[in-house]
Parts: sequence; structure tokens; C-alpha cells
Amino acid sequence: MPSYSDKILLIAGTAHTELARRISTELDIPLCAAHVGRFPDGEIDIKIEDDIRGGDCFVLQPLCPPVNENWAELLLLLDCLKRASAGRITAVLPYYGYARKDRKDEGRVPISAKVVANTITGCGASRVLTVDMHAAQIQGFYDIPVDHLYAKPVLLQALQDLRIERPVIVTPDVGGVKMARAYAKALGDTDLAIVDKRRISGSEIAVEHMIGEVDGRNVVIVDDMISTGGSISEAARICKENGARTIVLAVTHAVFCGPAVKRLEASPADTILVTDTIPRHGPSPSKLKVVSVAPLLAKAILNLHDSKSLSVLFDSLDT
Ligand code: R5P
Repeated sequence: MPSYSDKILLIAGTAHTELARRISTELDIPLCAAHVGRFPDGEIDIKIEDDIRGGDCFVLQPLCPPVNENWAELLLLLDCLKRASAGRITAVLPYYGYARKDRKDEGRVPISAKVVANTITGCGASRVLTVDMHAAQIQGFYDIPVDHLYAKPVLLQALQDLRIERPVIVTPDVGGVKMARAYAKALGDTDLAIVDKRRISGSEIAVEHMIGEVDGRNVVIVDDMISTGGSISEAARICKENGARTIVLAVTHAVFCGPAVKRLEASPADTILVTDTIPRHGPSPSKLKVVSVAPLLAKAILNLHDSKSLSVLFDSLDT
């Protein structure tokens, strides 16, 4: 068991400084003075200016695009803290990259999520705090504690604020049924529908059918992430074709790469609700509404520091 002082230290990489500042404001604890820059050849240059010896350190760094840059920065930050004699080091990863590569689903491919886990542990993390991992079983890739929070309470509040009349919760694929059922239950045991999705390539999706009734209904499509936007925009299209009245998308991680913004702009969705686990750079779809996970992460950091249970925050997907 690592021992640490009563000092919470927040250290931010450059992946999402805005979210780091929001967490710092929530906790009323300043971010540590640190230089995280680049040498002229692109290598990462890090120096923590504050004394962190013995402190309870939280490194804030989502593994969002540019994923490899942010991952390398995280590892160097962890190593830096370890060598500066931090008491305990928690890697706070609001978005866990490479999580879709969690098994060998064909020959001669890596299990990238395991490599991420090995490197995070190897560079000195004592624990990991993350939100809506694509595959919860990645926790088992670690021999250190992994606290897996769900953004559901944050998105749920935003959905309740929209006062959607008799919603139907839709999942863009069968893998999302558990998440959809949890939302359906929380919104008053509403109906469920499932989109029959087939992935053709990394960015191409085919959808021909859906299971369940959406005709004349207000639809809420829930998912853990929008990457290229193929899955969710196809789900929205089939819902509209099947008579949906209004469509709200409620998604945790707005990765928004490649054609995502264009696809979302062209989709029949009326509102696109996402959280701020990933920063927004460049244009956003016009119907985008962002809700913050900063209060959730701040509370989790506080509870971890005080050795209090996080289960009050685990508004899990178990129904
Ligand atoms: C799939 O299992 C995930 O939950 C997302 O639906 C998917 O990864 C999103 O990717 P894209 O936006 O590229 O379709």
C-alpha cells in the first residue's frame, strides 16, 4: 500500500488542460506548476516545478487524439513523479484510448489495451481512474486498482432537463444493450430498441434493420463514443426512416475524428449531448451540447484521497 501525505497534487498533461482546470476549480486546488513541452525534434520535455515528495498525485490526461503523443506524455509524467518520490500516483484517464483493441480477434494483431495497461503500471502508476471504458474487462489487465466511473449520471441529468416525452432508448449495436437498458431503467422503464449494425471497415458501417418500435416516438440513442460518427449517424438515419419524431444522441466520449462532424451535421439528430472527457478542437456540429464530468472526477479524486468508497459515484450499468 503506498503511503502519502495529506496533500492532493493535480498534475496536468497537455491533452485536455481545460478539463484539468475545471477539476482544479471544483476541488479548489491549483494545478501543479509544470512545464510539459517539446524539444525541437518533437521529443517530450517535462519538468515539474513544485515539490511533490510524498504527495497524493493525480495525473490528468485523457488518451484522446493525438493518442500516441498523449500516451507518451502520460508515461513520462508518471515516470517523472515516481522519480520525484511521489507518495501515490493515480493516472486519471477521462478517456481510455486503445480500449477497442482488447483481444486478439484475428491472427498477428496486438492487444493494444494490454500494452497501454503494462506501460501505465510500469511507469509508476499506483492506481487508475477512468470513465466509461469501451470494455470494462480491461480492468483485469491491471494488477493495481482501477476505478471505473460511468458518465451516466451526468448525461442522465442533461436528458432529464430536456423533458423528453415517452422516450425510446436505442442502442446502435447489440454490444450497447446493457448501457441502453440502464438508461431506459433510469428514465422510468422506457422502451428499448436495437440497431442491427455491421462494421464494414474502421469508418464504414452498414445498417439495414432495427429491432423495436420507434414510430412516432422520441428517440434517445446512447453510446460510449462517437469516433468517425458512422455508427450513430446510421442509427439516427434508420430511426428516422422508421418514423422517429425527435432524436437525441447521448454519448460519453466525443472523439470526433475523420468525417464525424460532417456526418453528425447531416444526420437527423436534433440534439447531440456529449461530455467533456475529450477536448473540442476545430468545428463542432451545430446541435452539440457538452456537459462536464469535472464534478464527477473531482468527487472521485477527493474520495480516493480520503480513502472513502467510490461506490456512491458508481451509478453503474447493472440493472
Ligand atoms: C462500438 O462498439 C462503439 O460503442 C461505438 O459505437 C463505435 O466505436 C463508434 O465508432 P464510429 O463513430 O466510428 O462508428
